[in-house]
Amino acid sequence: MAEQKNTLFDRPGGYAMPTGTAEANRASARSKAPIVLPGDSEPVHVAATQVPEPRYREDNPDTAVYVGDCRDVLPNLAEHGTVDLVFADPPFNWDVPYDGWKDDMSRAQYERFTYDWLDACIDVLSPTGSLWVNIPDDTAAEIVLHLKRRGLTMINWCVWHFRFGQCRHSSFILSKVHVLYFAKSPEERTWNPDEILEQSDRASIYNDARTMAKESNKGMRVPMDVWYGPYLGRIQGNNKERRHGHHNQIPEAYLERVIRACSNPGDLVLDPFLGSGTTVTVARALDRRGIGVEYSEVNAESAWDRIKNIGMVRTGTVGASSAIHSKRGGGKRSKKGSGGTS
Ligand SMILES: C[S@@+](CC[C@H](N)C(=O)[O-])C[C@H]1O[C@@H](n2cnc3c(N)ncnc32)[C@H](O)[C@@H]1O
Repeated sequence: MAEQKNTLFDRPGGYAMPTGTAEANRASARSKAPIVLPGDSEPVHVAATQVPEPRYREDNPDTAVYVGDCRDVLPNLAEHGTVDLVFADPPFNWDVPYDGWKDDMSRAQYERFTYDWLDACIDVLSPTGSLWVNIPDDTAAEIVLHLKRRGLTMINWCVWHFRFGQCRHSSFILSKVHVLYFAKSPEERTWNPDEILEQSDRASIYNDARTMAKESNKGMRVPMDVWYGPYLGRIQGNNKERRHGHHNQIPEAYLERVIRACSNPGDLVLDPFLGSGTTVTVARALDRRGIGVEYSEVNAESAWDRIKNIGMVRTGTVGASSAIHSKRGGGKRSKKGSGGTS
């Protein structure tokens, strides 16, 4: 007998789940279902209660940078509960010499720190808001579990793939970071696929006539969940985006994809770990309101210089092909096809 396809499935993001699962997860989070993680036994951070003053501020669109620990600043923001998009790229606890921040906690302390700042981000978001986290292998799983037990829904588990990982012999070279995309409400989140389309492999490699025959977005597709390619490499050397004195600067094209996809002009974008200022620089260039929080006074000053005086330096990159094979000859469709993407 032919298998019956189960149609009682929702696809709020990239993952099929039985109808009602998102609500069931939220209910389970409300009932405090006991998913216990290492780090839970460490004491929870007690946030300061002082209303913070931005160190730097500019209008049109409203943009502010706060200096301090995001776990203290976020709960006291006037914009609490109204943020449309949070992008977080935390310290990884890899003993990086950040200015002032101690990046070598015990594992349990680091996990507690992680749950505390995640909670602060969840609480600052509006009910329709999205939360993105940039995190390497060693803490991705814990973050996914924590966000699920807080009732958020995973829309995509993307991977940022880069070349020039640090050479090593003891294991495979690290060449990726996880880019986790969660929403409070998968049904009501802001999602603008047409803002982030890229040239498809069918168009750029295979000369596939079918993609040019589409009603709209001919030759274009929503990017895949592994991110790489032009303008998405690590920021180092003499890259024109590079801000000296900052560690782990993320490319502007990466933030442009996140911000265009998950917010609209006028919306509020927040970065709790501002670093060199990439998120707020791109948000401002795209006419979004922005809030950045940075622990280090030196980093905050440099980020503000970038946000206010330099701005986004790599514009017009949306739409480029990320193809890894060169163009096939001839005008006909490849016999093998292109694996089913549009
Ligand atoms: C990985 S970097 C962020 C890089 C940023 N995404 C960029 O593109 O430049 C992390 C930053 O968070 C800051 N930081 C560390 N702990 C913090 C905390 N508790 N609150 C706010 N900022 C913190 C560090 O000083 C560092 O600048």
